[in-house]
Amino acid sequence: KTGHFTYDPGFTSTGACESKITYIDGDKGVLLYRGYPIEQLTLDGDYLETCYLLLYGELPTKAQKQQFDRHITRHTMIHEQMTRFFQGYRRDAHPMAVMVGTVGALSAFYHDSIDISDPHQRMIASHRMIAKMPTIAAMAYKYSIGQPFIFPKNDLDYAANFLHMCFAVPAEEYKVNPILARAMDRIFTLHADHEQNASTSTVRLAGSSGANPFACIAAGIACLWGPAHGGANEAALNMLAEIGTVDRIPEYIARAKDKNDPFRLMGFGHRVYKNYDPRAKIMQQTCHEVLQTLGIKDDPLLDVAVELERIALSDEYFIEKKLYPNIDFYSGITLKAMGFPTSMFTVLFAVARTVGWIAQWKEMVEDPSQKIGRPRQLYIGAPQRDYVSLDKRG
Ligand code: SDX
Repeated sequence: KTGHFTYDPGFTSTGACESKITYIDGDKGVLLYRGYPIEQLTLDGDYLETCYLLLYGELPTKAQKQQFDRHITRHTMIHEQMTRFFQGYRRDAHPMAVMVGTVGALSAFYHDSIDISDPHQRMIASHRMIAKMPTIAAMAYKYSIGQPFIFPKNDLDYAANFLHMCFAVPAEEYKVNPILARAMDRIFTLHADHEQNASTSTVRLAGSSGANPFACIAAGIACLWGPAHGGANEAALNMLAEIGTVDRIPEYIARAKDKNDPFRLMGFGHRVYKNYDPRAKIMQQTCHEVLQTLGIKDDPLLDVAVELERIALSDEYFIEKKLYPNIDFYSGITLKAMGFPTSMFTVLFAVARTVGWIAQWKEMVEDPSQKIGRPRQLYIGAPQRDYVSLDKRG
């Protein structure tokens, strides 16, 4: 039975809130989306099915799935005027900065036409966000490498369309590898939602003031960017590259254990999981599948990652502190092999997490008891005192 806490609109000290969307058992390493285990959803379903489930609470019927897929597919284009935003960014801007700016700007194109008190309008806004994030993300990537934007193609499924928008060029036909598209789709599902993590709580707090959903998602993207959160996939790959070879692992394990060294093993540890992150297992399997599909026999980064995991999991420090690989540990190796630069890793996380943010925002907005969030504080500053004028302060 999932634990239910009383949701205190004031975000009291427990910070607990009530939700029906995602359940995590950190001790057992369990992750359920609306009661369905992540292992089953990534085996048979696809990402848009998971989106429907997270948004509406039930798996779609065939007719509902077809209608939902069609609605998302037909909203993948962005307003042509928005393409001008990209001209204002430096070419070498981090794609996450571009995402925060461009997604926030969606408010300037759609906000005034969205009445969030109207369920139909909330559905439109939710579907628009899910539909347009891959297009904006692909545009951010294309802009960063100086290539022309590739329009979405309605005859491709969600993940294949995204890969096509990222890697196709006008000069020649680009065929999306179906195995890589399936892997991309599974990676999206793995990242879709994760209960009240930092970025989701940011979206909820922003939404509790009545801010429009596009602005709330932009706030979530900003929070996700941090290396302790969604930025960890980029940081984890940079760490594996810095370690470079298996013989240098002990030096980094020692640094991770040294209280005076701020270095932490990126992709390891979790606020909630004190067991193996169930997503990390599926991510590792997907990593091997992608490398095999691409004919990559021995990836030095994977060798370092597998050996680093083996050593860490047998080290008493990590055992005692219950530190295991999290979803970010293997995702970077996989995404790099698929052709993405490290700077795009967190962008992909944001694309996938958009449905979780939107589903949690929708659940909160539809809760009639919802008040504006107001985290409590414990004041530990100066007691009341009288003002001293400047000439008397010496
Ligand atoms: C995500 O919340 C979510 O659900 C997030 C997420 C999602 O889907 O939304 O799952 C996505 O953000 C995954 C986490 C990605 N971040 C990283 O991989 C960055 C590296 N990991 C850490 O920075 C850290 O583990 C955190 C930030 C994830 C959690 O930090 P906490 O809350 O300090 O972890 P903890 O309380 O379990 O730590 C226990 C001890 C502490 O030492 P002591 O104070 O007891 O002496 O373990 C230490 C920590 O310092 N520790 C680590 C470590 N992580 C925790 N030591 C070395 N390496 C690490 N990675």
